[in-house]
Amino acid sequence: KELKPFNTFGIAATARYFAAFSTVEQLKELLIYSHQAGQQNLLVLGGGSNMLFTQNYNGLVIKNELKGIELVKEDANHYYIKAWGGENWHRFVQYCIQHNYAGLENLSLIPGCVGASPMQNIGAYGVEIKDVCESLEALHIESQSVVTFHHTECNFGYRESVFKNKYKGQFIILNVTYRLNKQPVYHTSYGAIEQELAAMGSQQLNIAAIAQAVINIRSSKLPNPAEVGNAGSFFKNPTIPQTQFRALQQQHATIPHYAVAPDSNGQAWEKIPAAWLIEQCGWKGYRKGDAGCHSKQPLVLVNYANATGNEIFQLSEEIISSVNQQFGITLEREVNII
Ligand code: FAD
Ligand code: EPU
Repeated sequence: KELKPFNTFGIAATARYFAAFSTVEQLKELLIYSHQAGQQNLLVLGGGSNMLFTQNYNGLVIKNELKGIELVKEDANHYYIKAWGGENWHRFVQYCIQHNYAGLENLSLIPGCVGASPMQNIGAYGVEIKDVCESLEALHIESQSVVTFHHTECNFGYRESVFKNKYKGQFIILNVTYRLNKQPVYHTSYGAIEQELAAMGSQQLNIAAIAQAVINIRSSKLPNPAEVGNAGSFFKNPTIPQTQFRALQQQHATIPHYAVAPDSNGQAWEKIPAAWLIEQCGWKGYRKGDAGCHSKQPLVLVNYANATGNEIFQLSEEIISSVNQQFGITLEREVNII
């Protein structure tokens, strides 16, 4: 099966076997069948917006098409909304805004599906899934049992969760229950949201206006995967000890940085935008063949048409090495390399 239409990088790669599931029963049958056939390699696919295929996939790719959104509970302050994993993320965010369920508006326009949202604890414009996730249900692949994870059991961190680490490859996320606010709490201090709201001439602050501001800002700098292949930020923003940061600041007075809460040993850290590091190294707008570094946001690597996954990966190696040489910081990839 050709996977090019199923990954936003637009990489041509094939899957040995491919199937979609729209019920939990179908999913279980697929797993039993592939287990009996001796198939070891399994890749769960949502919107394919956070992966880079560097080779053909020698195994079974299963596409999550579980659908449904329901209000499962409410209390004085919250609505608890359960969404199934195959729901498109942005459409789900819009559904919540239309129903006045507040909390997801800053996460507008992130590609992909609900089921992947806890995987890397998606985040943007001051909000992360960890702020709004109540619990989730996941199928344990080996035992076929459905396990409920309370948000405290997901070990959410910056672009991290237990599903990417300890339980990597062990669970398929079926649905997620979000704890959304009846009284909205506005997050407008991040980035250019306030300026954008002003530019929009927005008279009254509300969740729809914030969503629109976020959509406008994102559209102005992030490439639309329908036009240029990409998977969003290719690297994570690195965090470095404050002592290392002070030394760098001596050499680069304008280095942008954000203070991070000290860790349990009292060590202070600073987060540095990888986009700045990459731009300083001269990569912004770079293009070699069809692989490139986006001209408006250098943290995003792009496939202009027919780049291979390996060409993109090779470019990422060169970027890592030059940032390392110039700043002594090793960038970590954010995208899943398959
Ligand atoms: P996929 O790419 O299909 O899968 C990602 C990983 O999760 C894979 O390892 C896959 O096997 C696994 N997986 C998927 N679904 C399941 C499941 N149900 N159970 C178990 N494992 C699963 N991310 C952000 O955090 N913030 C942003 O602002 C942001 N902006 C982006 C902008 C653009 C233009 C693009 C292209 C991407 C952006 N991303 C961003 C990255 C991406 O949108 C998110 O990581 C998204 O959650 C990926 O969803 P997906 O369904 O496409 O996952
Ligand atoms: N910058 C530059 N040059 C540029 C662009 C940015 O130097 O060309 C520097 C500036 O200092 C700017 C800073 O980078 O202030 C931050 O840029 P931006 O606000 O665009 O955000 P980011 O840190 O690059 C992160 C996430 C995005 C998320 C935005 C908004 C990561 C790895 N990326 O990007 O997530 O949408 O913040 O919250 O944390 C994704 O994960 O795919 C993604 C797009």
